[in-house]
Amino acid sequence: MRIEQIGDDSEARTQVLALADELDQRRYVERVYEHSDQTLLLGAFEGDACVGFLVLLIQVIGRDAGRPPILRDEAPLREGYVEAFAVHPRYRRRGIGQHLQEHAIELSIARECYQIRSRSPLTSRENYALKLKMGYAIHPSDENDSYFFIKRIEA
Ligand SMILES: CC(C)(COP(=O)(O)OP(=O)(O)OC[C@H]1O[C@@H](n2cnc3c(N)ncnc32)[C@H](O)[C@@H]1OP(=O)(O)O)[C@@H](O)C(=O)NCCC(=O)NCCS
Repeated sequence: MRIEQIGDDSEARTQVLALADELDQRRYVERVYEHSDQTLLLGAFEGDACVGFLVLLIQVIGRDAGRPPILRDEAPLREGYVEAFAVHPRYRRRGIGQHLQEHAIELSIARECYQIRSRSPLTSRENYALKLKMGYAIHPSDENDSYFFIKRIEA
C-alpha cells in the first residue's frame, strides 16, 4: 500500500473521485474551501486501485467559525483539518485509515500546524475507534449529532 498526494488534473484524482462517489463523500472532495490556505488530497493505492482517501485543509484556527486568530509570536496558530476520510469496505481493518491519518499529521507538522482536527457524526463508530487509538481528545459539536476530534501535533 502506498499513499500519494494527488494533483488537480491527474488520473489518480479521477480514481479518488470514483471511490468518494461510491462512499457518498464526493462533494467533500470537490468542494472549494474558501477559509482554508491550502487543500491537500491524499489517496491510498493497492497496485493500481484506489482504496482510500483523505482531504486535508491547512487553515488558521478559528477562521472557519468567524473567530479572530490566536496569536503566538505575532503569528496566527494554524491547524490541519480533515474534511473527508474513508477506506473502501473490502480493504478496511488493515491499517490503511491510520496510515492516511499519520500522513496527514506529517503534512500538517511540516506546515507548522499546532493541531489536527476533524468532525464526524455519532454513527461513524469505526472512525471513533481509530481516533481513540491515536490519542485524540473529543469535544461535542453544536452541529447535529457530531463530535470534534482534536490532537496537538507539534514536535
Ligand atoms: C474510519 C475508516 C476510514 C477506518 O479505516 P481502516 O483502514 O479500516 O482503519 P485502520 O485499519 O487503520 O484501523 C485503525 C484502528 O482503528 C480502530 N478501528 C477501525 N475500524 C474498527 C472497527 N470496525 N471496529 C473497532 N475498531 C476499529 C482499531 O483500533 C484499529 O486498529 P487495530 O486494527 O490495530 O485494532 C473506515 O472504517 C471507513 O471508511 N469508514 C466509513 C467512513 C467514515 O466513517 N469516515 C470517517 C468519518 S467522515
